[in-house]
Amino acid sequence: MTGLHTYGNVARSFHWLIAVLLVLQVPLAFYMVDQPLGPAKLGNYATHKSIGLLIFSVTALRLAWRLTHPAPPLPAGTPGWQRIAARLTQVVLYALMFLMPLTGLLRSQAANFPVSFFGLFTVPTVVGVNEELSRGMAAAHEMQGTILLLLVGAHGLAALHHHFVRKDGVLRSMLPLAGRGRP
Ligand code: HEM
Repeated sequence: MTGLHTYGNVARSFHWLIAVLLVLQVPLAFYMVDQPLGPAKLGNYATHKSIGLLIFSVTALRLAWRLTHPAPPLPAGTPGWQRIAARLTQVVLYALMFLMPLTGLLRSQAANFPVSFFGLFTVPTVVGVNEELSRGMAAAHEMQGTILLLLVGAHGLAALHHHFVRKDGVLRSMLPLAGRGRP
């Protein structure tokens, strides 16, 4: 596998940075919602919101990079439906990395909870207090979380399928030490 057929170093760094942030973010979310009300719960909510805003910002940079640095082509002979499934999964995953922070932000602000970014600054208010909107956004956020888990599962299984069944270089092209990738 030559460097030309791997994702570049920047693309791989973005990919694994988002993966690590999600591994922190999603279990924290399920843990915090079941905690009894108190300082520990509130602290975890604040951390969840900050990590979510970080994911939003990193995804914006990542998308800008992706649009200017095309991904390596899938192996020749990849069936059309798999190409479509891969593209669709990736597009929806990108969309969720923007939509989940947005529904989370609206849910919080509509319930009159200010949102801070790691205590550095408070995000400007985009919606006023609105209980109904807050409930709707909470339901949307939860549904998006379920879709995210399903798609991350499919995405991971597809990567393992490439590696162990098709034995092509698709998984390796995204691994941190995938040869001398492009910049
Ligand atoms: C990509 C980023 C994010 C992911 C993957 C994510 C994921 C989740 C998940 C899986 C839950 C638990 C399911 C539920 O009960 O709703 C949750 C809950 C929650 N999230 Fe996020 N979230 C993200 C960003 C944010 C942001 C930026 C905010 C606020 C600014 C936020 C606010 C909340 C709140 C307030 C809850 C609790 C919902 C409730 O108590 O009704 N999230 N999040």
